[in-house]
Amino acid sequence: MYWMGIDVGTGGTRALLIDGEGRIAHGFTSPHEAITMHRPLWAEQRPENWWEAAQAAICGVLAQSGVAGTQVVGIGLSGQMHGLTLLDEANQVIRPALIWCDQRSQPQVDWINATAGAERVVESIANPVLTGFTLPKLLWVRDHEPAEYARIRRLLLPKDYIRFQLTGEFATDAADASGTALFDVVRRRWSEALAGATGVDPAILPTVFESPEVTGRVTGAAAALTGLAAGTPVVAGAGDQAASAIGNGIVRAGIASCTLGTSGVVFAHSESPVYDPAGRVHTFCHAVPGKWHVMGVTQGAGLSLQWFRNQLAPGVEYDTLMAEAAGAEPGCQGLYWLPYLMGERTPHLDAEARGAWAGLTARHTRADLVRAIIEGVSYSQRDCLDIIRGLGAPVDAVRVSGGGARSPLWRSILAAALDCPVVTLETQEGSAHGAALLAAVGTGHFGSVDEACGAAVRETERAQPEEALAALYTAGHKTYQALYPALKSGLNRAAGGRTPGQ
Ligand code: XUL
Repeated sequence: MYWMGIDVGTGGTRALLIDGEGRIAHGFTSPHEAITMHRPLWAEQRPENWWEAAQAAICGVLAQSGVAGTQVVGIGLSGQMHGLTLLDEANQVIRPALIWCDQRSQPQVDWINATAGAERVVESIANPVLTGFTLPKLLWVRDHEPAEYARIRRLLLPKDYIRFQLTGEFATDAADASGTALFDVVRRRWSEALAGATGVDPAILPTVFESPEVTGRVTGAAAALTGLAAGTPVVAGAGDQAASAIGNGIVRAGIASCTLGTSGVVFAHSESPVYDPAGRVHTFCHAVPGKWHVMGVTQGAGLSLQWFRNQLAPGVEYDTLMAEAAGAEPGCQGLYWLPYLMGERTPHLDAEARGAWAGLTARHTRADLVRAIIEGVSYSQRDCLDIIRGLGAPVDAVRVSGGGARSPLWRSILAAALDCPVVTLETQEGSAHGAALLAAVGTGHFGSVDEACGAAVRETERAQPEEALAALYTAGHKTYQALYPALKSGLNRAAGGRTPGQ
């Protein structure tokens, strides 16, 4: 017996299989088309491409493993959060999805605050509305593409479009719904107040489930396309961050996780909906039924390195770049990277923030540029951790996952920049693993999410921060923190003083 986790990431869709002990048996990733960026800070992907990639990933993992579709007894979904996927009367995709890092909707955020009142917004959804969230993206379509807006019958999040294709059902989970800005995070249901105030028809919203609940079954048509068995249950799953937290065992207070994917996220479990009055970290529902989490987000984590490689070192392997960076002097001789390539959430909440290297000299090498990127992203994660600790969440260690966590160099820089032990787990699969574990819970194999994590999540290494490096980076973090306020107005001017949506 196997359970399948499917994660609709930004770079690709991954399908993996776990066995009865929650161990990963096989995994297969199918890449996505590149993000379309018609303008700076805009980001779109085609939902149809996610479905093509999901089919390829499911077929791929079944073929590679030799596991028959009938041996897969439950499926869990996870995916990039916040993406606006719109379907018409015939359930056809209306336009490409505006994805999580798209920053064009500041005018709509301002409109929501002016119309509903910023305080009422926070009362309704336990968070401020941000450009990254789904509601302002929807209102951007209302304002700029009224013909398309009029055709909307369904609004789905990325992984829920895959659910629709697999099961024919329109459903989501409380954790992913939390990132729409239409969800009452405290009461775990759609916010009628905010939908009403912003003119959104609640009928377009999917049914909300807790993450391990079964939301539907694989249809005959989807079975024929994927090799899965018709009738296989599909659980709600979770947005990628909450799913990753399940894969990392962040189901109790004390341990936080840091997921270094395209974005970088520091995540901590919470028994109640704790809220940062400045709104710098999100308060969302957890994939553990009835629990919450707080998380801080660096928009451009792995994205910074990916951008560097694609634009400035095409064809060079990441391992080569990392090996070069390992040889650069810690602190990069005064060079700093601000990772704000797609604006920034934590701590600045600034859709117009822009990236920068600060402190360049003619002596700097490519190795310094890369190392500064890794250090800058790690400083940004320190910003997130400090705010989370400031909310009273005890954090004794940080469990790392995501692509960046595969690099020993990045792990050691992170441990020192966070000044906190960094724990590596047997698997760094994060989201897809979490989704599969949720499927095993939802089909009754494990009694609870806690039990599933207890069985499946194993620590392999605990790296203490290196003392001298931690001291250097603690000082470096202060300099890093001073740079954005000093550069903000200049960077906004450089951006033309216009909000990205205009
Ligand atoms: C979380 C977020 C990103 C995306 C992409 O709020 O926007 O982590 O889910 O991974």
